[in-house]
Amino acid sequence: MAQRETWTSRVGFIFAAVGSAVGLGNIWSFPFQTASNGGAAFLVVYLLAVFLIGFPTMLIEFVIGRRSKQNAVSAFSELGYGNWTFAGAIGVVASFITLSFYSVVGGWVISYIVGSVTGGYLGQAGTFFGSVSSGTVAIGAHAVFMAITIAIVAGGVADGIERATKFMIPAILVLLVGLAAWASTLSGSAAGYAYYLSPDFGVIANNFTSIVPSAMGQAFFTLSLGFGVMIAYASYLGRDDSLPADSAIIVVLNTVVALLAGFAVFPILAATSGVGGASGGAGTAFVALAGAFGQLPAGQIIGLVFFIVLLFAALSSSISLLEAPSSYVVDRYGVDRPKVAVGVGVVSFVIGIAPAYGYVGLFNDFVFNILLPVAVLFIALFAGWVANRESVDELGRGTTLGEGATTLWLWWVRVVIPIVVAYTLYLGVTNFYS
Ligand code: PHE
Ligand code: NA
Repeated sequence: MAQRETWTSRVGFIFAAVGSAVGLGNIWSFPFQTASNGGAAFLVVYLLAVFLIGFPTMLIEFVIGRRSKQNAVSAFSELGYGNWTFAGAIGVVASFITLSFYSVVGGWVISYIVGSVTGGYLGQAGTFFGSVSSGTVAIGAHAVFMAITIAIVAGGVADGIERATKFMIPAILVLLVGLAAWASTLSGSAAGYAYYLSPDFGVIANNFTSIVPSAMGQAFFTLSLGFGVMIAYASYLGRDDSLPADSAIIVVLNTVVALLAGFAVFPILAATSGVGGASGGAGTAFVALAGAFGQLPAGQIIGLVFFIVLLFAALSSSISLLEAPSSYVVDRYGVDRPKVAVGVGVVSFVIGIAPAYGYVGLFNDFVFNILLPVAVLFIALFAGWVANRESVDELGRGTTLGEGATTLWLWWVRVVIPIVVAYTLYLGVTNFYS
């Protein structure tokens, strides 16, 4: 068998993992989830979910990936003595389904880039969204987005994924800082900051059962957890650096990008149609933002920059969603990477035709409320109870973590995460079917 690929360096791995994490979840979903769930109150619960549950879960995936040096399916079957293959398979199927609707939204972003150049959405944000978000235009743009994703993944781990993300991540950071700075100069922006940053704890108390699953789903989604994507990425690690340190960097950078997106979006909305504009379904954020760009000086240029940032973010994540199932096929059947990327991408494109006919919201809710918590639940139980010896050994490799920290992590993974996630799943299922 050919030598398994690896990242060129630790920094290369971190860029790729940050690229996977930073995506539509940060810049599209995070602001509209925040707006739909009461603003700053949601932000508080979300940050707790990211740091208390998301961060230790990312460590689980890194531990499993680096230990097994395999894709998620083979990793679970090897470390779990064959009986846990199903848990890896759930993740691979989930990343497949997620890629299909993710690519449809990526296609919307392409249409909005075109709309920024032509002025197509100016003064008619709702009509424009209607014409690009479903049907033939949506399918065409979805095909373009998927084709770019396939091309990058076909290029390989180091030359495709690592190279692309090393360019896109710095660009996203610089452009978002610029957008947030510009937004602060708008008159009327103050109301946006207030809504975003001063929590009303009464809102949390009154909406606990809807805020918790939304915040938890958002935390898993934004950190690319549950689907074996981070398992696959960690499996390409050549040497032993500190996994806790790498995870901390990735979680913090991902959080910075989401917060920055809020610092751009909320003042822009407050200065135009109001912050409430982004609350509601998947499409409202696009309509609200395009509406805002139509009312602002230089709005067309700002819109262009914003949607380019969104496209980079989406692509650096979609390649990881394609990589997870592809790495399984490459490892398992030894087929050429480019062929696998095309095959997996095309099937995912076909599944995506359903969301391209107006079901993005349904796919999104299903992934957030059900698929993600189910997948994370199995991953935690597996790492904590089945592969526990391997997990603990691997966590310690390349770090100076004390015995105490390792034990705390193990019990957190064994008990706290499963209980919290099972409760979240219960709430999520109830919400999804109501
Ligand atoms: N983390 C990505 C985002 O925030 C989405 C993603 C989820 C990517 C799961 C890979 C795996 O947009
Ligand atoms: Na993210």
